[in-house]
Amino acid sequence: MNYLCPSILAADFWELGRQVEIVERAGAPYLHIDVMDGIFVPSISFGMPVLASVRKRSGLFMDVHMMVADPERYIEELIHLGADGITIHVEACERIPETLTKIRELGAKTGIAINPETPVSAVLPYMELVDMVLVMTVRPGFGGQKYIIECADKIKEVRRIIDQSYPDVKLEIDGGVTLDNLEMNLAAGANVIVTGSAVFQGDIEANVGEFLKRM
Ligand code: DX5
Ligand code: ZN
Repeated sequence: MNYLCPSILAADFWELGRQVEIVERAGAPYLHIDVMDGIFVPSISFGMPVLASVRKRSGLFMDVHMMVADPERYIEELIHLGADGITIHVEACERIPETLTKIRELGAKTGIAINPETPVSAVLPYMELVDMVLVMTVRPGFGGQKYIIECADKIKEVRRIIDQSYPDVKLEIDGGVTLDNLEMNLAAGANVIVTGSAVFQGDIEANVGEFLKRM
């Protein structure tokens, strides 16, 4: 089973509620919430109030991507506000096992993310503690970047590891995913597909429909 996960980073915030409704009505199961702190990544996006507002009105699975240094500080609040899954970066967290355990104990799903330059081996120690591995396919921090083709091999590598030993773990990709490279990414083994610009630019309903048709 594959899951489409539109990223609201690319939404028009004047119309955020309406655009999330369109995505949900069109059948996307997940919503990707990109939280940035200006430290782990250069930019700042949004955080708790946006999650809280969207959660109140939407039944989508809230997939929170923490591009934040020391994400452990925010776990309780995020889950309290309605995060269904929280992904932390292996590069940004000092106490990874403790943080993942805390997320699970509080009832949310766990994810571990790796940047394009980080080897797949960096996630191996945490596979028992995660529900999802996120392979970044651009440098985190901005939407609308070009897919880094070298990352496709990492997707395949993670897929092999999951299939061998952790069949329930999901494999998410994030960054530069379009209708043009979707098939290649699914073939490489990704099953949670984050996409920002390719969904929110133009006709959102048609874009979601087109992605879902091909997944
Ligand atoms: C990038 C974010 C992504 C971003 C993807 O740092 O983590 O989730 O929204 O946007 P696109 O699909 O436009 O690359
Ligand atoms: Zn993201």
